Amino acid sequence: MTRHPAVKAVTAKAPAAQIPAAERPAAGAYPRVRLRRTRRTEWLRNLVAEHRLTAQDLIWPVFVQEGKNARTEVQSMPGVYRLSIDLLCDEARRAAALGIPAIALFPAVDASLKTEDAEEAFNAENLICRATRAIKDLGLDIGIVTDVALDPYTSHGQDGLLNADGDDVENDITIDALCRQAVLQAEAGCDIVAPSDMMDGRVALIRDALDEAGYAHVAILAYAAKYASCFYGPFRDAVGSAKALGKNGKKTYQMDAPNSDEALREVALDLAEGADMVMVKPGMPYLDIVTRVRSQFNVPVFAYQVSGEYAMLRAAADNGWLDWNAAIMESLMAFKRAGATGIFTYAALEVAEALRDGCPLKSCCR
Ligand code: PBG
Repeated sequence: MTRHPAVKAVTAKAPAAQIPAAERPAAGAYPRVRLRRTRRTEWLRNLVAEHRLTAQDLIWPVFVQEGKNARTEVQSMPGVYRLSIDLLCDEARRAAALGIPAIALFPAVDASLKTEDAEEAFNAENLICRATRAIKDLGLDIGIVTDVALDPYTSHGQDGLLNADGDDVENDITIDALCRQAVLQAEAGCDIVAPSDMMDGRVALIRDALDEAGYAHVAILAYAAKYASCFYGPFRDAVGSAKALGKNGKKTYQMDAPNSDEALREVALDLAEGADMVMVKPGMPYLDIVTRVRSQFNVPVFAYQVSGEYAMLRAAADNGWLDWNAAIMESLMAFKRAGATGIFTYAALEVAEALRDGCPLKSCCR
């Protein structure tokens, strides 16, 4: 076995002071410096951990459906269910008891209610408004985040209203619709509206509409840097919005994958318009954006571990190729390390439970 020459000097019996200077190990280098020293045991790794994951970091996105005592598994997201409002209330209680600060509601709207103009989005008795009121009535200490975008309600599945030619989403008329939708959600009792539509200028007008309607306390979490991503596929299955997106998909309004300076411009604009918090989405493929946004703006930055990210990890685990607990915990820790204030994850409930019960992988989730 060959040793580094300086090792002999430090292991020699003679007091260090008697070792000739030329033979003493260099300062700031091996073998004096050994980074493995603080990785030796579980407690030592815990002691020096730079980031921790807790239930309070998690926001739980949940799909809502009509019915009573109804629970339908999303085919491309094993372990994720669309829940009827009564079951959603049970799960909201569970989430609150686990210390999860907020849940984000997404409706699976009946196909018969979807129209070109998304009228159902403006119905005070729609699924989302009823779900919001039902959870609110429970008096739990948990926040309700509602999605401001028209895709669950449009027959074409786009997030906004189409132009006269029907080949693109029309920005400014869509904003009017989003303002109405946001005020309706605030009336139903949501705490945070989250515009995920990516129209230009919508945050300012939504803020004004909320303020005028008496909802100055309702916060805006702007999906500021939302990319046109294939990783939303399973979500579109879950809410039935994938049908007729056309060849551009959502690329004329959601961001283009090569760009990151542009994400900072999006964030700067949404903040200037009055956003209280911003979102980066998807999550893991865009962690560089989370880090850039967090270091440039001192504001709460959320990241969304989207449906496709969940589906990838789950599918690999279901095939025995990844350890589910280890993979989900490590993936969430990556968001914290990147600088996220909090993480939207479909695994929020089970992760919070694992954290409460002392997850098997303690060196990863603390
Ligand atoms: C739509 C919306 C989408 C998601 C959240 N809100 C999908 C899309 O933009 O098509 C995706 C969430 C996920 O994939 O988990 N406004």
